[in-house]
Amino acid sequence: MARDAAGVVILGLETSCDETAAALVSPGGEILASVVASQDELHARFGGVVPEVASRRHLELVSPVIRRALDDAGATLDDVSLVAVTVRPGLIGALLVGLSAAKALAWGRRLPLAPVDHLQGHVASLYLQPLDLEPPFTCLLASGGHTMILDVAERGRQRVLGTTLDDAAGEAFDKGARLLGLGYPGGRAIDELARQGDPTAYAFPVARVPGLDFSFSGLKTALLYRVRELRPGELEARRADLAASYQRAIVRALVERIEAAGADRVAVVGGVAANSELRASLPDAALAPLPLCTDNAAMIASAARYTEALPYPAYLGLDAHASVA
Ligand code: KG4
Ligand code: ZN
Repeated sequence: MARDAAGVVILGLETSCDETAAALVSPGGEILASVVASQDELHARFGGVVPEVASRRHLELVSPVIRRALDDAGATLDDVSLVAVTVRPGLIGALLVGLSAAKALAWGRRLPLAPVDHLQGHVASLYLQPLDLEPPFTCLLASGGHTMILDVAERGRQRVLGTTLDDAAGEAFDKGARLLGLGYPGGRAIDELARQGDPTAYAFPVARVPGLDFSFSGLKTALLYRVRELRPGELEARRADLAASYQRAIVRALVERIEAAGADRVAVVGGVAANSELRASLPDAALAPLPLCTDNAAMIASAARYTEALPYPAYLGLDAHASVA
């Protein structure tokens, strides 16, 4: 196993939504293993994440996923020097599964535990090798739960410059996909279908709210009306054009806001950072590597490098929180 000179590794756990993930990362930011078990198929038939179903699945998956990460890295728990886990924001029951597993692992081996903020985790996906991005930069964080522009002054320290007033960009993708009959999660499905469509076929509104905030709920309603106006059977023929035009509107809203922030150096993270049109629209930005855009535990272990860890056994009373700090 590749290890830093100190011979220590960070075990990261992520269970805030519907991905059960474990990763081993060296203190220098090298990913030694990163395992993500997606629950997409489990939730697809409900058209979105069902919190109780997610918690139960995390319980089933968390141990095998950790075991797999250790095996992939050729490591054992003896190699782990720090346990890192997402403690906020997210689905409370889902967070508690990861936190309980992390406490048990850390306590059993007298290890310290780093409580990680999921959003800081997304930003810390940029600090992993080989990208290893150094602040300062302005970061667009666009995921299923959040859409923000952050001023990142240094690793582990950021300030919110703008946020969404209603839906997150990923949520807009997911709700749009549902209206178009593309299933859950919808971002990737829209991305793929949009390649076959005309992005200028429909003019969807881009909400202009003051400052650097975002709003996506009007866009979703506009798509609903366009779909309702279609004649019976017409959706099939118009679906790709609708997907392409809808995606164009979301990407434009994101790019306009990033440009309005007037930053010299821009970075993009979060599930929506995987979007091919968004990536192509920001050729000069530092983009989170594709496998690190959607939820994973390597980014959580990465963030732990810039988060104060609690010593054994001070973390036993630690709580998870559903909301942003
Ligand atoms: O970061 P993430 O895995 O979870 C949260 O922290 O929310 O983001 C998931 C979101 C979903 O809404 C999903 O539809 C969206 O990221 N997404 C995409 C793409 N891949 C994932 N949206 C647009 N284009 C994609 N290629
Ligand atoms: Zn996320």
